[in-house]
Amino acid sequence: MSGATVIDHPLVQHKLTHMRRKTTPTQDFRRLLREISLLLCYEVTRDLKMTSQTIETPVAEMDAPVLAGKKLCFASILRAGNGLLEGMLELIPSARVAHIGLYRDPETLEAVEYYFKAPQELDERLVIVVDPMLATANSAISAVERLKKRGAKNMVFVCLLAAPEGVKRFNEEHPDVPIYTASIDEKLNEKGYIIPGLGDAGDRMYGTK
Ligand code: PRP
Ligand code: URA
Repeated sequence: MSGATVIDHPLVQHKLTHMRRKTTPTQDFRRLLREISLLLCYEVTRDLKMTSQTIETPVAEMDAPVLAGKKLCFASILRAGNGLLEGMLELIPSARVAHIGLYRDPETLEAVEYYFKAPQELDERLVIVVDPMLATANSAISAVERLKKRGAKNMVFVCLLAAPEGVKRFNEEHPDVPIYTASIDEKLNEKGYIIPGLGDAGDRMYGTK
């Protein structure tokens, strides 16, 4: 699939507007990100494979639907990915979690890895890679490459905001990994920030500069 699927649910869009406002304080920013993550997770997991189990209700036996296959895995690109991860784990508490520590070199905008830890049997799991921002896509491309090296075969990438430049590059490098986002913004500025964007997601989440 090329391009990106925009999740334009009114609640997502309303909450995103509050997150973008520069006057929104850290604690509200974090809460809104958690709330949006629940809604994004709901949309992204729409097509999960199902099977059935025979269960007994208080009055009858029935074949009831349950999720099929191995537990899925969330892969959080640190730091800001954890803002999406936390809400998603509330919806799917049995999921496994991979952490990928990456930061953008401020001069080159290349992604620099400082940590990687992932669960076993990635090849048998759906891997949902989360990071609020897809700007140049260097971080997302590198994270997905790393996960593929560890065996991941079935992945989706979920973010809050994407730049058109980042969507294009990611699609070119990983055409097999669909992107879900709440918005495709206008462009990147000369420093690699998404315009109009919301600023630095990690700094806004954690109150750093
Ligand atoms: C931000 C963001 C993404 C990356 C996106 O992280 O959370 O990981 O930038 O930019 P890109 O698409 O150009 O790679 P940052 O490197 O600022 O690290 P942080 O989450 O630790 O603040
Ligand atoms: N990372 C961010 O946190 N914000 C941007 O606009 C671009 C990259």
